Amino acid sequence: MNSAILRIALFATFALSAFPQHRLHNDAADQSQKHPWMNTALSPDERAEMVLKEMTLEEKMDLVHGNGMPGWGKPRPNAYLGNGGAGFVLGIPRLGIPMIQMSDAAYGVRSSAENGRYSTALPSNLASAASWDPEAACEYGALIGRELRAQGYNMTLGGGVNITREPRNGRTFEYLGEDPILAGTLVGNRIRCEQGQYVIGDIKHYAVNDQESGRNEVNVIIGRRALRETDLLAFEVGIDTGNPAAVMCSYNAVNGDFACENKFLLTDILRTAWGFKGFVLSDWGGTHSTIKASAAGLDNEEPNDDFFGDKLKVAVDSGTVPLSELDQHVRRILRSEFLSGIVDHPLRKSVVDVEGGFATALHLAEQSTVLLKNDNGVLPLDRSKIHSIAVIGSHADTGMISGGGSAQVDPPGRAPARWQEHVWFPPAPLKAVSAKVPAETVSFDSGDDPARAAALAKQADVAIVFAHQWLSEGMDLPSLSLPDKQDALIEQVAAANPRTIVVLETGTAVTMPWLGKVSGVVEAWFAGSKGADAVANILFGDVNPSAKLPMTFPLSEADLPHPQIVPPPPGSHGGAAVAGNGEAKPTFSITYNEGLKVGYKWYDAEKKPVLFPFGFGLSYTTFGYSNLAVHDNIVSFTVKNTGTRAGAEIAEVYAALPAAANEPPKRLVGWSKVHLNPGESKQVSVPVNSKYLSIFDEAHDAWKLEPGAYTFMVGGSSKDLPLVKTIEKN
Ligand code: BGC
Repeated sequence: MNSAILRIALFATFALSAFPQHRLHNDAADQSQKHPWMNTALSPDERAEMVLKEMTLEEKMDLVHGNGMPGWGKPRPNAYLGNGGAGFVLGIPRLGIPMIQMSDAAYGVRSSAENGRYSTALPSNLASAASWDPEAACEYGALIGRELRAQGYNMTLGGGVNITREPRNGRTFEYLGEDPILAGTLVGNRIRCEQGQYVIGDIKHYAVNDQESGRNEVNVIIGRRALRETDLLAFEVGIDTGNPAAVMCSYNAVNGDFACENKFLLTDILRTAWGFKGFVLSDWGGTHSTIKASAAGLDNEEPNDDFFGDKLKVAVDSGTVPLSELDQHVRRILRSEFLSGIVDHPLRKSVVDVEGGFATALHLAEQSTVLLKNDNGVLPLDRSKIHSIAVIGSHADTGMISGGGSAQVDPPGRAPARWQEHVWFPPAPLKAVSAKVPAETVSFDSGDDPARAAALAKQADVAIVFAHQWLSEGMDLPSLSLPDKQDALIEQVAAANPRTIVVLETGTAVTMPWLGKVSGVVEAWFAGSKGADAVANILFGDVNPSAKLPMTFPLSEADLPHPQIVPPPPGSHGGAAVAGNGEAKPTFSITYNEGLKVGYKWYDAEKKPVLFPFGFGLSYTTFGYSNLAVHDNIVSFTVKNTGTRAGAEIAEVYAALPAAANEPPKRLVGWSKVHLNPGESKQVSVPVNSKYLSIFDEAHDAWKLEPGAYTFMVGGSSKDLPLVKTIEKN
């Protein structure tokens, strides 16, 4: 038997024996006697070093690439060792090192239908950012971590944190909004708790993969200061908070070099400036070279071995790539395996806790739903006064829309979702609304014929129009308008019944030409397995909404930094062009000349009015702010519930930097979610990290606190900041 076949046979034995429990325990006990690196008292670095010393060149090569993904080209001979996920990396059974089984898991574990398992769909990542709640982010990560392991995976490919620079980006729902500190804090807490379940955590897509159009061939041009203070700050905060074991580099190029062979990103920033010690894996097909990528700091090619297979081995054999460089890749991967606990806690498939998942999904969706408009207290609906409800539109009799692409979670009991299929996730909002009132008071119209829907609305006490805007990886939106003539439907229904409430199921901002004509607007986002119940709880006041927008809703696309999406060149096939020397090159560029002005910073600086500002969200109660004090980077103030219902307020702290810093007018530097009973007041203290008050000084390649006057502003949204105090810092 040649060595490759022998290794495959060994893996097969290892894989097949991987799940029976008694075998695992015995194996673990045997291993720790046999292998000194199984001593958990040693550090991940020490353990990795010991294993590395034992490894053959072949074994090292096995660790630095994937082994295919179902549906991605021809299956490889060892494909049967995979678990149906996005990819896997071989283990080293003789040394007790397990395979890494990877699955996408943006808002839940993907491909569950394919491997005969079940996954909870949580509210989309963007929705979860609307909770502004690090504890909720932790619950989110822990649930996904548990379900990954139950399904036989020990690595997540979740952790998307590209900031919302371009709201038409088809993956906006997979990310955490436009502010780097909010997004970074939340992704870090998610990863921290995901890894707490013994899975390798991942943060992606590093970096500036801020639009899908031409993502494989675009060169993003951005200044160094803007890069550090916008997109990279989200990663810096996320890595600092969550200590992920892995970073996924993105498809696009940044300032000339593809992200997965970009020494500035992968070594100078990630490792030297931030001290990241985990491994870097490429986005699927995002590797374009062997020597350059390896030297730049890419550790693992996914999902295949086009560059980090034979080509890398030949380069190592000939000394073009030093063995020490290969060792460094392997060391980082091994270290991550020890750090995340996947070596000490072997996989054991189990049944997903469906009910527990529902409870978490419901709780998180309730914390994520933003009340945007509530004229004359139309909400919450008063069961004693409402005798007829017209529910209209958006397949509300089936489910709520979910986000597509590699993030898609399969609903229970159906075939696996196709790439970019519109999936209406049950339960149906119609059912959830009907459960709140005598069922006969609720009627439904599909909205296909707006005149018919308006006629139904006219006879009802209240009309609830569900409206959706679907998003997916691999596409960008042509505009921020609701598709399928839903604006016209809402206009007609609102004309027939002024008590019209719109429930939005969107993956990013939408424009609302009808806003002045409806009484209520609820942003439910892509709300997950319990979204419909969460919406009903909010509509009827069983839950008081507390979420706030993690991104600006602009008035029109004309107000965006780039009124048009910059498209790839005509005739492009979606891949990077290959030059005569075999080198892949970007085919077009986007210059992010808005610089530091991303999201609300753009609208503030350009003095552009918006539809709904960053940080905005209503409650069924009201809050008052007083007593601002600032001492040693601690901002303290009082929040009072001035209304009649218990509720939670997300109190936001912004800072304006000294003029010499040359920054946009203000930035978010901290926040706190405060739960208050009617009439109750609480003193709130928000510590502000000095980095969040700093600027990136290109000349010194370091963060710098500019001396001068800092103005702190506190309140309930980026446009409602009643408390203001200026202090001097030297
Ligand atoms: C996406 C990644 C994903 C990978 C594996 C790529 O197309 O950009 O986010 O993890 O596929 O499914």
